[in-house]
Amino acid sequence: MIKSIILAAGEGTRMKSDIPKGLHKICGKHMIDCVIESAENAGISENILVVGHKKEEMIKATKKENVKHVVQPMGEGVPYGTGFAVMQAKNYIGEDDCIIILYGDTPLITKDTLEKLIYFHKNGEYTATVLTTEFDDPTGYGRIIKDKNDNIMAIVEEKDANKEQKNIKEINSGIYCFSGKQLIFALNNLDNNNTQNEYYITDAIEILNNKGFKIGCYKIDDDTEIFGVNSKVQLAQAELIMRQRINEKIMLSGVTLVDPNNTYIQSTVKIGRDTIVYPGAIIEGNTQIGEKCFIGHNCRIIDSEIGNNIEIQSSTIIESKVNDNTKIGPYAYLRPNSVIGKNVKIGDFVEIKNSIFGDFSKASHLAYIGDAEVGSNVNIGCGVVFVNYDGKNKYKTIVEDNAFVGSNSNLIAPVVVKRNGYVAAGSTITDEVPNGALSIARARQVNKEGWIKKKKK
Ligand code: UD1
Ligand code: CA
Repeated sequence: MIKSIILAAGEGTRMKSDIPKGLHKICGKHMIDCVIESAENAGISENILVVGHKKEEMIKATKKENVKHVVQPMGEGVPYGTGFAVMQAKNYIGEDDCIIILYGDTPLITKDTLEKLIYFHKNGEYTATVLTTEFDDPTGYGRIIKDKNDNIMAIVEEKDANKEQKNIKEINSGIYCFSGKQLIFALNNLDNNNTQNEYYITDAIEILNNKGFKIGCYKIDDDTEIFGVNSKVQLAQAELIMRQRINEKIMLSGVTLVDPNNTYIQSTVKIGRDTIVYPGAIIEGNTQIGEKCFIGHNCRIIDSEIGNNIEIQSSTIIESKVNDNTKIGPYAYLRPNSVIGKNVKIGDFVEIKNSIFGDFSKASHLAYIGDAEVGSNVNIGCGVVFVNYDGKNKYKTIVEDNAFVGSNSNLIAPVVVKRNGYVAAGSTITDEVPNGALSIARARQVNKEGWIKKKKK
């Protein structure tokens, strides 16, 4: 069985944060979930998460069937180090398992690389394989020590390296593949005789090499994959790399991003061909957008379903559905549970909440539509308010097909405007508007002739 051990017990002091490091987000996803997801997608069926600092929060946020948690004891006088962290997971390591070591703060590792690492490890019949890369400036990383036949012998940490070793450019990513049986053997033989008095998992390589086991080095070119996040500066850098990956994939699938450096789309979002997305768009969660849509600047769309050929300008749409050929915005606000029909127009400063709005209907400007069922071919005039709340309870308004609600009217719910009903502008409607009737609910105009002249006297 292929399993991962994900180390995420460290405190992450340089983040200067109350949130445990693995729970900081990049492109909307916890870093730890990015790692777990890559592992899952690479066919790793069980993930053992080593937690310590803020363990309750970490465990709560990562509860999942294929995630097992082990707690690394922490505190004054307790041993520390990556080797000690792996030891905590020893009970989960089977002799025939293939164990991948990963980190909660190295979120950019991809499924592809993990798959290739596992293949390289198995195909080469290695006991351990180290994922490495080359850096012009390797400062801070463990260096890969090789013999004259290019076989890896050991990994030396920066702090323990001599001058000659410090010049080595090939570095340890910290990610490895181990055969279970030999990993257990190595863990039983780790010590903390080094400058930091830590148990280093890196020492497992030298231990196994000394025993004559075959160790592999799988070297990758894309060093962004092993990018570690230790500060909020690096968090933003990781976010940028992830954003570029997401946007590239979306563009290659046929979506036009006018300025991919300024477009924020989460990896869970799906967008159809020939949709154009303008700068400043934020598209999140479980959102699906169809083909040939126009998503204008500064739109924010969360957990929503957008059909085909829809134009959305500078608007916010949350947990709602918009059907084909409809125009939204600029500055419209669709709140949760709104379903907008086909060929609809929702214009500027229109807010819709928990409502159905039928095909070919219009609310072109300045309206509030809440808890309503609006039929098809309805006109909601400028400034119409669906008065759905009496301070305690919410009530429903129904406006049937072909009705016309004149500007600046109030529909006081619960109330129904029947088919073909016509509400005169400025009305406050409290009773049913019958089928085909005109309802006027406002005081009649009174003209007082010569009033100004009299007043001046
Ligand atoms: C480690 C490697 C180094 C490699 C580098 C790559 C060792 C000894 N060194 O160094 O060769 O180049 O990663 O980034 O392994 N952690 C725990 N419990 C612990 C200690 C650490 O869970 O007791 C976790 C931390 O939360 C962190 C990760 O392990 O996510 C790495 O630990 P860190 O101390 O940062 O190792 P490095 O010094 O970076
Ligand atoms: Ca580190």
